[in-house]
Amino acid sequence: MVGRVSPPKITPEMIRSWKGQRRICALTAYDYPTAKLLDEAGVPLLLVGDSLGTVVLGHPDTTFVTMADMEHHVRAAARARPMALLAADLPHLSYRSPEEAVANARRLVAAGAEAVKAEGGRAISAQVRAILAAGIPYLGHLGMLPQHVREEGAYRIKGRTEAERLGLLADADELAAAGAFAIVLELVTPPVAQEITAHVPIPTIGIGSGPLCDGQILVTNDLVGTFPWFTPRHVKPRLNAFAQMRAVIEEWLHSA
Ligand code: KIV
Repeated sequence: MVGRVSPPKITPEMIRSWKGQRRICALTAYDYPTAKLLDEAGVPLLLVGDSLGTVVLGHPDTTFVTMADMEHHVRAAARARPMALLAADLPHLSYRSPEEAVANARRLVAAGAEAVKAEGGRAISAQVRAILAAGIPYLGHLGMLPQHVREEGAYRIKGRTEAERLGLLADADELAAAGAFAIVLELVTPPVAQEITAHVPIPTIGIGSGPLCDGQILVTNDLVGTFPWFTPRHVKPRLNAFAQMRAVIEEWLHSA
């Protein structure tokens, strides 16, 4: 009898090597069943994002997320033992110095993360280089940085001015030179996202940054409609799971 061939474990090096070869799709997972479902569906990169703070924990933005929150949810997602690469966000104020960044990246790895992500480019280059020197794979995040929403006052699209365009290119250069295996580009104008994608040797994974990145990432709850109270403009939910679940629950309530 011929057994099923299980897919290979996805590594950061594999994702890096997919630039120009295949699209890189990624979704968020904050718990065991979601990580298992996405992995079984073949999503190669799962992110325990700090979007957890809004779509699961009910905070107004991601700045409320703590290391303890992240560890708890990384442990849950890691119990799915995904073949996908499991990355996790360093939350707000958890990487103010290289030492703090490494200590907290190690905590996420101990919880089961196989790579970490933080927000920023040249401004956190010492932290990024320290994390990589500690042997922890690193995923960059440039463009609109949700952890800065309170200083900036809003979620603003980036890359609209020449200074922002040049800054993003320099940040992307720095992350690639430091050794990041890919860069998330969030709410970057599509032409600038396209330019960064052509410019850097590592994959770009866009969210709200147009179709011309090397791949796309979404918050799973936005894609399947389990957080209907706010849907970002760049997402067209493929399912209204919230409405369907509510209908089933109401039906049960009236029949039980
Ligand atoms: O926290 C998160 O889910 C993210 C993605 C939106 C990229 O950083």
